[in-house]
Amino acid sequence: MERLLLHGGVVSPESRLTMKTDDELRTRVCLVTGAARGIGKATAEVLGAAGAKVVVADISELGAQTAEGIRAAGGQAVFIQGDVSTAEGAANIVASAVAEFGVLDSLINNAGILRLAPSFEHTTIEQLHDLMQINFESVFHMSKAALPALEKSGRGSIVNTASMVGFRIGMPSHAIYGASKAAVVGLSMTMAIELAPRGVRVNCVAPGVVATDLFAEEFLKSNSSKDLESGGKETLAAIPLGNYARPEQVAEVIAFLAGSASDYVTGQTIVIDGGFTGI
Ligand SMILES: NC(=O)c1ccc[n+]([C@@H]2O[C@H](COP(=O)([O-])OP(=O)(O)OC[C@H]3O[C@@H](n4cnc5c(N)ncnc54)[C@H](O)[C@@H]3O)[C@@H](O)[C@H]2O)c1
Repeated sequence: MERLLLHGGVVSPESRLTMKTDDELRTRVCLVTGAARGIGKATAEVLGAAGAKVVVADISELGAQTAEGIRAAGGQAVFIQGDVSTAEGAANIVASAVAEFGVLDSLINNAGILRLAPSFEHTTIEQLHDLMQINFESVFHMSKAALPALEKSGRGSIVNTASMVGFRIGMPSHAIYGASKAAVVGLSMTMAIELAPRGVRVNCVAPGVVATDLFAEEFLKSNSSKDLESGGKETLAAIPLGNYARPEQVAEVIAFLAGSASDYVTGQTIVIDGGFTGI
């Protein structure tokens, strides 16, 4: 029988075939935070369509609609309402998820907010605290709470939503937002090293401009000297692929990192920006 050399050992062609991972997501329980709308909702839907059991977590009761939509399309999903930015809230969400499905294989830390200021020195300390708590501390709390279950899974995967801002570029009005996302990337890199021997991978996505309510509500407002339309046009012109990302274009990359299709990838941040920061 044909044998393949692998790190001094051997694997058979049959076992190589078991590495085909397209269907692996259907065996996973995936928890997606901030899944009431936007990128989180799209991620929950992509995972649900792939057959994963999905836990939709959000502070907003609209998360119930995401879960309903997945079930209506033939998938499996539950909604758990809670606040990911506190240790107690995170622990409750994870406990409810594990109570529901018994296991947890993938944690997608996507919930986040954008608070803009004319420039960094005009940022209030309240804005700074909100951004750090919701964008960064949430990742710490949720990951800590989920770790026992992810480790038990034996194929645990954490995917954190960072941003091109704070990872590749700075952007006016986004000083503390960028700092909060830089903190997410920094935390993820060390978590990836510490958790690799325990069978848990940790990666980030760094989206560019994604057409979501968050973008519409906050990002275009930051172009204070322009109206919404012209501010938007200028941003579009900076994107080589010529359009804002659709939430599902980010969701597909998150799903890849959440499942075993990416089982040799850890400690990475994948930029999904249509070429905006192309270098
Ligand atoms: N939209 C973009 O252009 C863009 C770009 C880069 C990164 N991101 C990041 O992607 C993620 C999703 O962004 P989006 O555009 O879909 O935003 P969104 O505002 O449309 O969705 C965010 C979701 O998070 C939830 N949420 C907020 N605080 C929460 C809390 N404390 N506990 C639980 N849920 C909470 C909200 O209720 C909402 O449903 C965020 O982390 C954001 O920073 C977005």
